[in-house]
Amino acid sequence: MCGIVGYIGTKKASPILINGLLRLEYRGYDSAGISTIEKEGLSMMKDKGRVKNLYHLEGIDNLEGTIGIAHTRWATHGKPAKENSHPHMDNSKTFSVVHNGIIENYHELRKFLTEHGYTFYSQTDTEVVPNLIHYYYNQDTNHDEMKFLRATKNACNDLKGSFALEIICKDYPDHMIVIRKDSPLVIGKGEGENYICSDIPAILSFTREFYLLEDFEFVVLARDDAKFYDKDLNPINKKTQTIEWNASSAEKDGYEDYMLKEIYEQPTAIRETIGAKLNEGTKCEFEELNYSKDYLKGLNKIYLVACGTAMHAGLAGKNILERLCKIPTEVDIASEFRYRNPIIDDKTLCIFISQSGETADTIAALKLSREKGAKTLAITNVIGSSITREADNSIYTHAGPEIAVASTKAYTSQVILLAILGIYFAETLEISENEVAALKQDMATLPSKIEETLKCAKTVKEFGKRIYQEKDVFFLGRGIDETVARESALKLKEISYIHADSYPAGELKHGPIALIENDITVISIMTDSKLVEKTVSNIQEVITRGAKTLVVTNQKVDDKMFDTVIHIPETNPFIAPILSVIPLQLLSYYISKEKGLDVDKPRNLAKSVTVE
Ligand code: G6P
Repeated sequence: MCGIVGYIGTKKASPILINGLLRLEYRGYDSAGISTIEKEGLSMMKDKGRVKNLYHLEGIDNLEGTIGIAHTRWATHGKPAKENSHPHMDNSKTFSVVHNGIIENYHELRKFLTEHGYTFYSQTDTEVVPNLIHYYYNQDTNHDEMKFLRATKNACNDLKGSFALEIICKDYPDHMIVIRKDSPLVIGKGEGENYICSDIPAILSFTREFYLLEDFEFVVLARDDAKFYDKDLNPINKKTQTIEWNASSAEKDGYEDYMLKEIYEQPTAIRETIGAKLNEGTKCEFEELNYSKDYLKGLNKIYLVACGTAMHAGLAGKNILERLCKIPTEVDIASEFRYRNPIIDDKTLCIFISQSGETADTIAALKLSREKGAKTLAITNVIGSSITREADNSIYTHAGPEIAVASTKAYTSQVILLAILGIYFAETLEISENEVAALKQDMATLPSKIEETLKCAKTVKEFGKRIYQEKDVFFLGRGIDETVARESALKLKEISYIHADSYPAGELKHGPIALIENDITVISIMTDSKLVEKTVSNIQEVITRGAKTLVVTNQKVDDKMFDTVIHIPETNPFIAPILSVIPLQLLSYYISKEKGLDVDKPRNLAKSVTVE
């Protein structure tokens, strides 16, 4: 997904911009570019391909400007190509703009501007923006210091869709304007300099002080100043917020890949997410929430809505909320939910799970639920992300930045937070006392059990070496294990490009068994003592047909039956996915490595999907 970086200060901007873009590479992109204000006017260097290609562009080393904007593009309108890369300039080369999001009415605006003599050189929606700003700029006869801002505001009023914009103007060599609507953008405050970015990790090594922007707030940045304005250009006050992540947590810390580092960070992520919420003898508290017993009792349904891995965490959440809190709970894929006219009223609680807090489908589903009268609750990893601004309430996983596209520690942190939420609901409802007490106890020992589980890496790696050339792999499980089968199949597809499918083990005989042939790999998860025998007999059916089998279990099984068995520690069934997923995260990782693939940046995928 597109990334934005900007700098205004006293240092040479171009190396800072390129460095920032390199740190945003994990978001997925196909082109990159920068634009700076030089003595002779605006510079623009861009091309399709990797950020590091920018170093080879002629003249890049001669840039001296101390103000600049930069962008990595993930093509939506127009193919990956130099002319479609950002920045984009207006015809007179007065303004240079980078944009994240989608201008939905760009056809209309392009037609309007073409009729007024403007020419377009790209297929992008973005190119209308600098030209529209120029159009309003030209019409304004007042040549005061607000002229640049007025033109930007008038242009933004005409834009439909989502946008985070950075704009520089050759007539205002000491200023930059930024604005966001439904697309991420933050400002990092330095000493005599300001950094702009779509994602905090890219500028974390420069500052920890951030201004978080609301929709339609305009910012006029100078080197040692930031002026904020509302949508009518009334000045507003804004304070910085300190982000606790340190720069090194956004680096690899000696691991070969971010994904591996993030897998090994899971004990910490779980500890941090539990934090001080589960004290013995006291009820679980969420400062951010004040749901009353009557409100929870009156609920007709909870929806858990999310995409990808976050949706799989929702499946584990459903199990917890239904069994522990006795509230009917449905899990929905956000892109489906928003178009299926779900039954929602003021007795429905809609919970949205999103690591990034920026997933467009999830945010749209949230807006729909709010319109229909439901209370909305966001579960996210990113403070100040768009979803937190839209939801009635937000609670946070404390997993730290997740850089690898394939989500690992965010998933397990989401499951634990959903379990804590379940405890909070059950305690408020004054039900399931014994189950809650047992769950709390099991949660306390979970981080050390994750450490224990991680010791399976060697066995997993060996199994990975045996199967990395396979074309198809099947994952089976029952009950809560089936949700882990789904997540594990997704992980394998994402980073190894092996076709992987998951099924409830009992469903096997209703179709998928037709695909089982000699030497095919079948992986199963068995953590539920009540279901283990049934799953074993399903696996027996595939063994008879010649399948190779890997089993992840915390139960006693006959190891000789299977090719490889990974024994993991036993824990409470509600949180068992947090342990059982780990060997399978590692399996995907080692298979991807064995195939020589880019683990952290798999093809065609983006970390944060901010368009529909
Ligand atoms: C993309 C990512 C997935 C992620 C999903 C939801 O598809 O590639 O890894 O699970 O988005 O992201 P979110 O930030 O909303 O959790």
